[in-house]
Amino acid sequence: MLTDYEKSCNEQLEKLRDKEDVVILAIESSCDETACAVTRGREVLSSVVASQIEIHKRYGGVVPEIASRNHVMAVSEITSQALGQAGLQAKDVDCVAVTYGAGLLGALLVGVSFAKAFAYALGKPLMAVNHIRGHIAANYIAKPDLEPPYICLIASGGHTAVVKVSGLEDITLLGSTQDDACGEAFDKVARVLGLEYPGGPEIQRLAREGKPSVHLPTPLKDSGGYDFSYSGLKTAVINYVHSKEQRGEEYSKADVACSFQEKAVGIMTDAAVRAALDNNLKTIVIAGGVASNERLREMMRLKAEKYGFNVCYPPVRLCTDNAAMIAEEAFNLIKTGAEAAPATLDASATVKITDVTAV
Ligand code: KG4
Ligand code: ZN
Repeated sequence: MLTDYEKSCNEQLEKLRDKEDVVILAIESSCDETACAVTRGREVLSSVVASQIEIHKRYGGVVPEIASRNHVMAVSEITSQALGQAGLQAKDVDCVAVTYGAGLLGALLVGVSFAKAFAYALGKPLMAVNHIRGHIAANYIAKPDLEPPYICLIASGGHTAVVKVSGLEDITLLGSTQDDACGEAFDKVARVLGLEYPGGPEIQRLAREGKPSVHLPTPLKDSGGYDFSYSGLKTAVINYVHSKEQRGEEYSKADVACSFQEKAVGIMTDAAVRAALDNNLKTIVIAGGVASNERLREMMRLKAEKYGFNVCYPPVRLCTDNAAMIAEEAFNLIKTGAEAAPATLDASATVKITDVTAV
């Protein structure tokens, strides 16, 4: 049985469905960024991101408990800042959105609890947003006229997949990593090379000074499908570095970084291009933290020229975790008639790309 509040939320959402200037306040706290954004339709009025990277760097990765505590300390202030920068007050918000998964459970819980209370106090609907779909939605900010169908390559610290987006919420999984996510492999390879967390930007920087001279395997090479594997590639790099060090031989870290990056982004690019060709689609979109990689973007542009595709990717600040993408995805949910989150909404560490919203 729905409560009066829940019924009112769904009635409000019905009215918001055809409104192009819906004001959404979104909260994101799935990993080590506490973020809040305010959007009006596809326009981002403010996007505040408080990164905890400096705190977690000394541990070489995100420490979940420390992340949760810092979210608790930041979330209220970040929300005030986002409203202030948007020039709005809480009462001007039509709908609240929050990442309910996937991510670190304790970290997610902070955002979910805050957003639930915020929405309830305002009497406004709350939309529960799938973080992975949020990454895809960042592209509607970068390119407001972007329309499905298209192929999307999602590569973040927790997920790597190729999907077919047939409608705003109609997403089919074509292939995914069989083990590590691409960003995770970047982070692990960076660690073995003595680079700081997060590893992606560090590898990218070092790779600029190197050549792709180290031979590395291409996992699942002849499978013909759209799945990838990063564990074998990561292990090959680790073995190379360890055997060089054990034998006391010189090697170029820049060449290792460059060879790894070339292979890591090549695997994904090939799968996305094959998916676009097989599905006869002319647009490829990339999303997630790894979508900020300059070599991935370049490789995609080159393939696009060769095969006549359009390529779309968000600016770097919208590739890594932020709340503007969560608001955009909430806008998509409203447009496609999704229901408001129940008052019992809980955070979920494992959410699949195919999960539209929380039930
Ligand atoms: O999407 P995201 O911010 O968080 C998750 O949802 O996981 O992605 C973070 C991941 C990290 O593994 C980070 O090393 C990687 O994205 N990353 C990059 C780059 N910038 C961030 N990987 C490769 N090249 C980059 N420039
Ligand atoms: Zn993310």
